[in-house]
Amino acid sequence: MTVHIGAQPGDIAETVLLPGDPYRAKWAAETFLTDVKLVNEVRGMLGFTGMWKGNRVTIHGSGMGMPSLSIYVNELIKDYGAKTLIRIGSCGGMQDSVKVRDVIVAMTATTLSTPSRGIFKEMNFAPCADYGLLRAAADAAEAKGTATHVGGIYSSDVFYDERPDLTEQMTRHGILGVEMEAAELYNLAARHGRRALAVLTVSDHLLTGEALPSEDREKTFGDMVEIALEAAFA
Ligand code: HPA
Repeated sequence: MTVHIGAQPGDIAETVLLPGDPYRAKWAAETFLTDVKLVNEVRGMLGFTGMWKGNRVTIHGSGMGMPSLSIYVNELIKDYGAKTLIRIGSCGGMQDSVKVRDVIVAMTATTLSTPSRGIFKEMNFAPCADYGLLRAAADAAEAKGTATHVGGIYSSDVFYDERPDLTEQMTRHGILGVEMEAAELYNLAARHGRRALAVLTVSDHLLTGEALPSEDREKTFGDMVEIALEAAFA
């Protein structure tokens, strides 16, 4: 047990999928895994371990934003030995070519600040995905016929952003979408020599104002979970 995770040693698999929402973790575990066991519920942050095609997987909520994700990922890596960590979540589209419901596989995660800022100081470290996972996810998405984009995303600290100029610059520099967690996941994986990736569904669009109706979210979320699982065990 750690400060924020009540799991016993050995309860957490080496491969961990990380949705922001703990109820998404429950839904994904119940939908895609067999032999599912609840391994954490401290502070309502649900984590489940089960089997997928003969492979052991944990699906654990990360919470929203990099400070929350940092707590869980630090403990999953340092105390439970997680080796492959894949964020599955939603993002806002930032290019005309990116449509609501599309999947983004995040090659890099640009950010203004992260919990790691204090380490990097004046250095602009470039958080990037594990290439093997990235390639496997792109292949899995293509095989499924899911409309998928591979490229840079932006990990913001705010959902209600008062800086339209930043959004404009990110779009101008080809950033595909905005979310709030991937950059710190990539920082922590780099620091501890683990594999990390973020696979995201475009749930809303910053340029068009379009948003995915809630009844459509489950299906698109499901494609993303399958892509993440296939990439993890490719
Ligand atoms: N901004 C930040 N995070 C998000 C968004 C957004 O528009 N959509 C989904 N996650």
